[in-house]
Amino acid sequence: MEESARARAQQVAAGFTESASDYEGAVRYNLDGVRRLVAALPERDYSELLDVGCGTGWSALTFIARFGPRRVIGVDPASGMLDVFREHAQKLDDVEIDLIEADVMNMPVEPESADAVICTMAMHWFADKAGAVREMAARLRPGGLLAVLAGGEGVEAEYRQLLESIDPPVPAHWPALYDTAPTSERQMHGFLDSAGLKAIDVWIERRFRQTPVDDFLERMRVVASHLSEGMDTDELEGHQRRIREAMLAQAGPNGFEYHFSKLFAIAAKPA
Ligand SMILES: C[S@@+](CC[C@H](N)C(=O)[O-])C[C@H]1O[C@@H](n2cnc3c(N)ncnc32)[C@H](O)[C@@H]1O
Repeated sequence: MEESARARAQQVAAGFTESASDYEGAVRYNLDGVRRLVAALPERDYSELLDVGCGTGWSALTFIARFGPRRVIGVDPASGMLDVFREHAQKLDDVEIDLIEADVMNMPVEPESADAVICTMAMHWFADKAGAVREMAARLRPGGLLAVLAGGEGVEAEYRQLLESIDPPVPAHWPALYDTAPTSERQMHGFLDSAGLKAIDVWIERRFRQTPVDDFLERMRVVASHLSEGMDTDELEGHQRRIREAMLAQAGPNGFEYHFSKLFAIAAKPA
């Protein structure tokens, strides 16, 4: 990994570690997406699961509840998120859970060892998404399945437009994050093809949401705090105040209105 990509990845991980204790409350919608992804997997015997960007363990726990694997490996560079996962894991008896602090591009996980690899709401943070899919595919046994949930094309376009309209402007890399984050169905098919996987199902769910402004901003604080790392406190508070005022001015009676889209993908490694 290049030095700049490594530094960015470390910032993202530090941001998630800092906000780990607030994470689950702030992104409740993700859990519903994870449930639908796991529900869409074909019924079969999955003995070993690899959860990449596992965070606090939502996907692994959902997967365990449905399929009862023997062993789960969770990989995430944010130690704080893994600590929360460890607390959840204490409540489980019949599954061996190994949590590893690592980046998707550098996972100390045996090739062809997993029956399933799951990666939920993490791919938008990967600098090299195609490379990350290849890394995950390499850990699948022949016949194994990859399941991905990611931000989809057009996600939060209204918030991005609002950020771009603020004057004086917010840092350019805040709205620019949306250039790298969203993934289209076609792009996902390309990633799967280049990793030698066969797509089983790739789809986008699009939702219209009305969310109280402060709830929306709290979620942003939790998932994207690294974007303001190192910024002067007065400057940061000034940006936050102007964003909040602009959102309140634009909000309807039920809150800030925006579209959210999630991309789902399930693919198999040829047997
Ligand atoms: C929004 S959370 C999702 C966590 C969990 N999968 C879920 O669905 O709740 C994104 C996670 O991706 C992790 N992440 C960020 N960059 C990563 C990377 N380069 N490799 C692996 N995980 C990464 C973060 O540390 C964070 O825990």
